[in-house]
Amino acid sequence: MASPMRSLFSDPERYLQSFRLFLANSTEHQCMQEFMERQLPAVIGSIGNGKSAINILSVGGGAGEIDLLILSKVQARYPGVTINNHVIEPSADQIFKYKEHVAAASNLENIKFIWHEETAYEYESRMSAENKSKRWDFIHMIQMLYYVKDVSATIQYFHSLLEEQAKLLIILVSGTSGWEALWKKYGSSFPLDDLCSYVSSADIKRILDSSGLKCQLHELPSHMDITSCFIEGNKDGEMLLDFLTETCEFSKTAPPELKRQVIEELRKPECSQERDGKVLFNNNLSVVVIEP
Ligand SMILES: C[S@@+](CC[C@H](N)C(=O)[O-])C[C@H]1O[C@@H](n2cnc3c(N)ncnc32)[C@H](O)[C@@H]1O
Repeated sequence: MASPMRSLFSDPERYLQSFRLFLANSTEHQCMQEFMERQLPAVIGSIGNGKSAINILSVGGGAGEIDLLILSKVQARYPGVTINNHVIEPSADQIFKYKEHVAAASNLENIKFIWHEETAYEYESRMSAENKSKRWDFIHMIQMLYYVKDVSATIQYFHSLLEEQAKLLIILVSGTSGWEALWKKYGSSFPLDDLCSYVSSADIKRILDSSGLKCQLHELPSHMDITSCFIEGNKDGEMLLDFLTETCEFSKTAPPELKRQVIEELRKPECSQERDGKVLFNNNLSVVVIEP
């Protein structure tokens, strides 16, 4: 008998492996890099005005690739100003990689790094137990809101920590992406646990509107090459299917009918486009910028 489906998060090693494969097969980081180059300078244009030090909080900073890019833009806008960069990141493995990236980078002289190995919620609980409410000039949450229990409460908590001219930047999948189409249709068939939920920019917009918070939205076109998912037995394809469905060993454990339907869905125009013999999954992202 086939083993039951289980969440990809029950196997942190496989999750990280599939996440790295996703990065290698998608324009996820490239489109973020483009945003950081072209549009971030305007977003951070006034966060450090008149300050001798700028405090940045990265929530779910991962291995730090995008964080370092953000820091280089803050440095360029405020040359010579001290930057205190705190990172909330529950994965020891990701923090280890982040430190390696910092060690390999140059021009970080005026930046102090502090890592907090904990979840966003653990950080909030620790701060309230210690009676602390440190304020920040820039807070970002990039591709991590899927992993918090209460998205609305998390946004509201971190928003409450903003200084007067600060910004809160969120990046997550767009409501127009293939993720939205796949998950709205099949999300309830995937073995989600309380470690991961599906949320898109459409949900964030609703949450912000109901909390009376104003935001600016930017759409970032992005795709993931999922051609290998259609080759039976292909190891990379199986790993990407795990990432798409957040299911450990989806190919081996999903009921055959669900597997057939998901494979069929992934080819549909709501999810993907075919170009030059490749199947490109719509991985469009949204950047949401919120003011105090
Ligand atoms: C998809 S990765 C994104 C990493 C990075 N921001 C990027 O865009 O490359 C999500 C990150 O959020 C972290 N994470 C998971 N649950 C979290 C939580 N409850 N609070 C904070 N971070 C969390 C994971 O360990 C992982 O490093």
